[in-house]
Amino acid sequence: MSGVSLPERVLDRLLGPLVPLSFGAPGLRLRRRGFDELARLDGRHVVITGANSGIGLAATLAIADLGARVTMVCRDRGRAEAARDGLSAVPGRAGRLAIELCDVSRLGDVARLAARLRDPIDVVIHNAGVLPLERSDAAAGLELTWATHVAGPHLLMRLLRPRLSAASRCVLVSSGGMYLAPLVAPATVPEPYDGVRAYALTKRAQVVLAELWSEHDPNGPRVVSMHPGWVDTAAVRTSLPRFHALTRPLLRDAAGGADTLAWLAACPHEALHPGGLYFDRVRRATHLAPWRRDRPELRAALWQWCNAITAPYL
Ligand SMILES: NC(=O)c1ccc[n+]([C@@H]2O[C@H](COP(=O)([O-])OP(=O)(O)OC[C@H]3O[C@@H](n4cnc5c(N)ncnc54)[C@H](OP(=O)(O)O)[C@@H]3O)[C@@H](O)[C@H]2O)c1
Repeated sequence: MSGVSLPERVLDRLLGPLVPLSFGAPGLRLRRRGFDELARLDGRHVVITGANSGIGLAATLAIADLGARVTMVCRDRGRAEAARDGLSAVPGRAGRLAIELCDVSRLGDVARLAARLRDPIDVVIHNAGVLPLERSDAAAGLELTWATHVAGPHLLMRLLRPRLSAASRCVLVSSGGMYLAPLVAPATVPEPYDGVRAYALTKRAQVVLAELWSEHDPNGPRVVSMHPGWVDTAAVRTSLPRFHALTRPLLRDAAGGADTLAWLAACPHEALHPGGLYFDRVRRATHLAPWRRDRPELRAALWQWCNAITAPYL
């Protein structure tokens, strides 16, 4: 929050514990007063998964309007083309939007995507996300949220790594829901299945994965995580209908949820702390209780699991 005055910093602190206000539209409205205009991204190439809907679509729009070329990674051609055509009405934007089809929960698909992405890449945004109502597996034994949020992004980063420099960045889109979940052994699935819990566990794993990348690859791209707050999107409407009905007046619009993604793509490189978690353009604590730490043996197990499960696709 560069250039933010002391009263605005105090306000941000006071707002923190008032989760519905902080995560909702009011929090963004208040903090926005301290936001700087974003730098242009002309000539940059940004790859974003889950780009046809909600936060991913809004981020695509914001980043393309800063001048970047955006590769929209989507799993359904019809939805992808409808999204791109919707954005292309503005002259000049169409030429900056490309579509790549990939289901990021399928590791073979991710490997094929990485092979097709030939141009230099400046930013990779792992935004695709799911909150399943019932258990389903992306591959034998690999549950969908672990596949979509953790294994797929890890494989994409491993495969693109030779073409990412220390000046590039990768962003994992996590969720504030991870504050309610500890780091667990990799691929742990709640029994009986609980999609909200599985979602939160894997969103916690994403935050730790960003830290692990930064620790294991200190000369590599800047890898960070973020959470977008509470945003009125299809995912919330369909997977959390009661939450949506209850919080609707407070929810941010998709552009509000995407603001920090555009900032993470455009902010000065030095502003990004390796492995940091961001919300509303500020680095945040990864646990509600600041003294809490993820267990070292579980962090090590997550890194080992991610490497092992993706190894056959390298
Ligand atoms: N909305 C919120 O309040 C909120 C809060 C915290 C975090 N988030 C996170 O924000 C991200 C975007 O969610 P959203 O709220 O914008 O929901 P959304 O509108 O449902 O968007 C999710 C996007 O991910 C895509 N996707 C899902 N699984 C995929 C897969 N296997 N391969 C490729 N694409 C896939 C979807 O594609 P289809 O259209 O083909 O399904 C869609 O484009 C997610 O990671 C979510 O966890 C959202």
